[in-house]
Amino acid sequence: MTTAPTLQELVGDGWIAPRARFATDAALLSLNGEWSFRSSPSRADAPDDLASADGAGWDRIPVPSSWPMHGHGAPAYTNVRFPFPVDPPHVPDENTIGDLVRTFDWPGGPALLRLDGVDAAGEVWVNGRRVGSTAGSRLVHEFDLTDVVRTGTNTVALRVAQWAATSYLEDQDMWWLPGVFRDVAVQALPPGGVQDVRVEAQWADGYGVLIVDVDARDGATALVDVPSLGLTGLATGVAHDVGRVDGWTAETPALVDVVVRTEAERATVRVGFRTITIEDAQLKVNGRRIRIRGVNRHEHHPDLGRVVPAEVVRAELRLMKQHNINAIRTSHYPPHPDLPGLADELGFWLVDECDLETHGFFEVGWRGNPSDDAAWEPAYLDRMRRTIARDRNHASVILWSLGNEAGTGRNLEASAKLSHELDPTRPVHYEGDWSSTAVDVYSRMYAHQDEVDAIGRQAEEPLPDPVADAHRRSLPFLLCEYAHAMGNGPGGLSEYEASFRRHPRTQGGFVWEWLEHGIRRRTPDGREFFAYGGDFGEEIHDGNFVADGLVDADRRPRPGLLDYKKVIEPIGLEIDGARVRVTDGYDFADLAGVELRWTRGSAGGVLALPPVRPGETAEVHLPEGAVGDGVLTVRAVLAADTAWAPAGHEIAWGQAGELPTPTSIAARIPIEDRDGVVHVGPGAFDRRTGRLRSIGGTAVDGPALALWRAPTDNDLGVAQFLEGGVSDAAAWAAAGLDRLHERRVGVRTTEDSLEVETVIAPAALDHRVRMRQRWTTDGDALRLDLVLTPEGAWPSGWARAGVELVLPWAADSIEWDGYGPGQRYPDTGQAQRLGKFAVDGAAALHTDYVRPQENGSRAGVHRLVVARGGCGIVVTGDGFSFTASPWTSSELAAAAHPTDLPPSDRTRLTLDLAEHGIGTASCGPGVLPQHRLDAREVTATLVFRAG
Ligand code: GAL
Repeated sequence: MTTAPTLQELVGDGWIAPRARFATDAALLSLNGEWSFRSSPSRADAPDDLASADGAGWDRIPVPSSWPMHGHGAPAYTNVRFPFPVDPPHVPDENTIGDLVRTFDWPGGPALLRLDGVDAAGEVWVNGRRVGSTAGSRLVHEFDLTDVVRTGTNTVALRVAQWAATSYLEDQDMWWLPGVFRDVAVQALPPGGVQDVRVEAQWADGYGVLIVDVDARDGATALVDVPSLGLTGLATGVAHDVGRVDGWTAETPALVDVVVRTEAERATVRVGFRTITIEDAQLKVNGRRIRIRGVNRHEHHPDLGRVVPAEVVRAELRLMKQHNINAIRTSHYPPHPDLPGLADELGFWLVDECDLETHGFFEVGWRGNPSDDAAWEPAYLDRMRRTIARDRNHASVILWSLGNEAGTGRNLEASAKLSHELDPTRPVHYEGDWSSTAVDVYSRMYAHQDEVDAIGRQAEEPLPDPVADAHRRSLPFLLCEYAHAMGNGPGGLSEYEASFRRHPRTQGGFVWEWLEHGIRRRTPDGREFFAYGGDFGEEIHDGNFVADGLVDADRRPRPGLLDYKKVIEPIGLEIDGARVRVTDGYDFADLAGVELRWTRGSAGGVLALPPVRPGETAEVHLPEGAVGDGVLTVRAVLAADTAWAPAGHEIAWGQAGELPTPTSIAARIPIEDRDGVVHVGPGAFDRRTGRLRSIGGTAVDGPALALWRAPTDNDLGVAQFLEGGVSDAAAWAAAGLDRLHERRVGVRTTEDSLEVETVIAPAALDHRVRMRQRWTTDGDALRLDLVLTPEGAWPSGWARAGVELVLPWAADSIEWDGYGPGQRYPDTGQAQRLGKFAVDGAAALHTDYVRPQENGSRAGVHRLVVARGGCGIVVTGDGFSFTASPWTSSELAAAAHPTDLPPSDRTRLTLDLAEHGIGTASCGPGVLPQHRLDAREVTATLVFRAG
């Protein structure tokens, strides 16, 4: 039987009206630090002495903290599924209760207690008196302590429940981590002081209009100063023309301090002037269409859980800016209260999302979804109100988002209406209702590149209701999530970007997601790894789906971040003969802060850049030394230090020219066949098997046909995105690519060649590949002409078409000419540039994904040297790919964590002539047709030398 939740369960009780966060000269006492802590396995087990408890003899725990990160219980991960029966509003008896107690000294006078984040629900006592309760983990709750606080020592006690009725509204895809995970403080409330400030700072054509609404306590009068604009004593509640003022944008984050003063208190709000409009199916700021180059950002730390130290946050936002990211969706809850201020300062567009997700109801066909149940409306409205009240003064916030994946229903419509009422200056976002009737932007997640392009052309499938359809057609389009950055990938970014650039309506999107939520753990022998779902013995879990970021949990860039930076680069550099066409792809910033530098070989210099404004293109002539053979690189770098990167930081780059094509070998000299060994120049082959055993005395073993790779998360895919529900990895496994057997057809020698023919096929199946090798030499080098021919009815494509050599030694030097320094597959690796690269061993080419998988392929290679102790082999060819790894594909595929990979003293060298793309089928479109590798004939010539 369903019961309705109580109002207290839905919204808590005892709190004061939600309001903005602002700096003030009223005293603030942080209650962060050590608290006494005890936990009970259920409510029934929790002692009823908390109101009077002093915490003596209890454990200690830091605040803020997620208590499972401090030895109390364990983290648990599910994505969509609730980790308890779907029985709203009830939660199981097994419900960890954390009690926290501490004392604080107060000099006297009215005060409030502020809780910035309590997961999932808290109840509060001060000096033995109950003052109220919280509901809404990522929302601020403040309690007036005026009647309970004493001069001198006070005691505060919190009872926090892991599960509450509101857990049904907080089913975001992340770890379940209870605790008092954001700051706790006591704030003085001077009588006649400032209670709330609501600022509207609009901008048009260079001029600003300011309205400051103030709630002052005790009927006090508040006045407003804007010192940097020379304005003092402005009245509240009315519009003031402030004259000429710089507009705030994410590219030009101009802020002014607005000071609100009463006799008793002085509050400061940092304000940016800007106006958001929707016109011509475009989202505009200060009259111009903006391009969103965004990421979804969760709050997670590998050692602390939901607690992210301020310096880590600042560093990660700087890292975003350094990678051309200009927008953040605060998925899927309001961020730490300091984040919007940081975004104002550094320059980001924010989609500020309400703390709401009811995705678990999807598992039961959306039966009982609170989004459409009137009984839950107070919770929806309370959450929306709190989100807006706290962050409304921030220029960076350009859209309010109702939440994520909460289905459809009346409460969402009511939230949208409330948002419009509370803040008519900002449009509303919600992705979960594709009809978009209640919102102001058309938003989708993981839509296919072709569909996005169709939406850009206004050619999307119409909605059945013509009125709704006309409304949606009038809206700008955003991908609130795209390019799922799980494991090796995301592939296919360039095709999205092309649509964003082609059509004004498709304004960009937010990659899912910025950060992996790995939790640092150690093996018994002390090796660190990032744990994911299932590593904590969860009964149900969603494995490594919690680790799908552009950076790892320590904020170290994954290859995908570098690719994203290149794909979204806001400065175009097109080299055409002796000219560079420089395009300013920013929306507001000119290129005055940018310097152009060129390099070709060891030559280089700076190019004078004429003024270029947003949307304009300038032509710059290259000096003589820049034009000629080889590869020319032109880079746009910061001319001076900024708040987010030092002078010289690279924003964009372009290249022209090619690496020299290696000379092939022409002359042929006779081979020698003696003592069971066939000598083809430097190559020694086993006469019987035709296998290559050494090159110039360096041991090698191969080549073996390679069609398979250790499945990436994208190769494994998720069913809903897969045609016929079959992932690439499943198709390859069904076709037996990972279990091939070789049959020698013939090993023939002629006067000047060795010819080896093999047929390679999986057990139980009758499709195969015929591999023909012809080896010749000019005396110095060993040439392989290779033909791979699929035979029979191939039921799948291939992961790769290449040959594998096992080097029974660990390389200590690998050098190549080609794309580098990082990995590149047909639809990834946009960040890689042509050049000469060197590393000191195969481990340096390995990308350490939280779950080992195919990685590290270097592409477009013309020359490769793999050596140990100065001796090794050289391979040349016309743009092949290579992978040099300490591990075989099977070893990578078998490992759940990097620490499972066995010690290795050999090198697997795979030389690929073609590869399958990566795609984003882990949550999104698979590999696009142009990047797929079908079973097809592949021919190539590779030349080997001793080196
Ligand atoms: C989306 C969801 C995100 C995340 C993502 C997959 O559907 O909104 O929270 O779960 O899928 O990683």
